[in-house]
Amino acid sequence: MSALMKQFPVSELISEEAIKNKVKELGLAITSHYEHHTEPLVLVGVLKGSILFLADLCRAIALPLEIEMMGVSSYGEATKSSGVVRITQDLVRPIKDKHVLIVEDIFDSGLTVKYLCDNLKARDPKSIKVCTLLKKDIQRTVDISPDFVGFNIPDKFVVGYGLDLTERLRNLPMICVYKP
Ligand code: IMP
Ligand code: MG
Repeated sequence: MSALMKQFPVSELISEEAIKNKVKELGLAITSHYEHHTEPLVLVGVLKGSILFLADLCRAIALPLEIEMMGVSSYGEATKSSGVVRITQDLVRPIKDKHVLIVEDIFDSGLTVKYLCDNLKARDPKSIKVCTLLKKDIQRTVDISPDFVGFNIPDKFVVGYGLDLTERLRNLPMICVYKP
């Protein structure tokens, strides 16, 4: 148990080891999906939650690729989805004719990813797919689902490995359930 974990009401859901293994697995699946594509592959990380996952995932993909970041905010300071999505930071380079893989920390209501897909589609990429480390086991109204999923998890608020509680606990090396 990490020293940081002891200071908060959290319990481990997914260990560091399990994350490591899953990232390797996802990297292999993504590599075999894109290896025969000739157009460039660009990973679009969703700030800030995906940064740890993106850093590990890109090293598990054995293909040339570009990295871009997109800032999207759908959560305020609360632990429930507001349904309001806005761009806080846009891509720096064009994605026209490239294969875009959106890299997200967690697929909850799906509103963020839905918004991103629609927004990026308008820029004429060759394809758009979504990779999420976590997917919450809930009923959704959005008409999209991620193409690559690490773990399906129960409908609990989770922190760690990039996921925050009002900006804290992103630096937990494992994923924990937060229950005050
Ligand atoms: P969605 O639009 O409802 O799918 O929410 C996606 C975003 O909400 C994610 O990128 C996270 O930043 C945040 N989020 C959703 N569930 C959790 C959670 O359990 N812990 C921390 N952040 C979460
Ligand atoms: Mg996020």
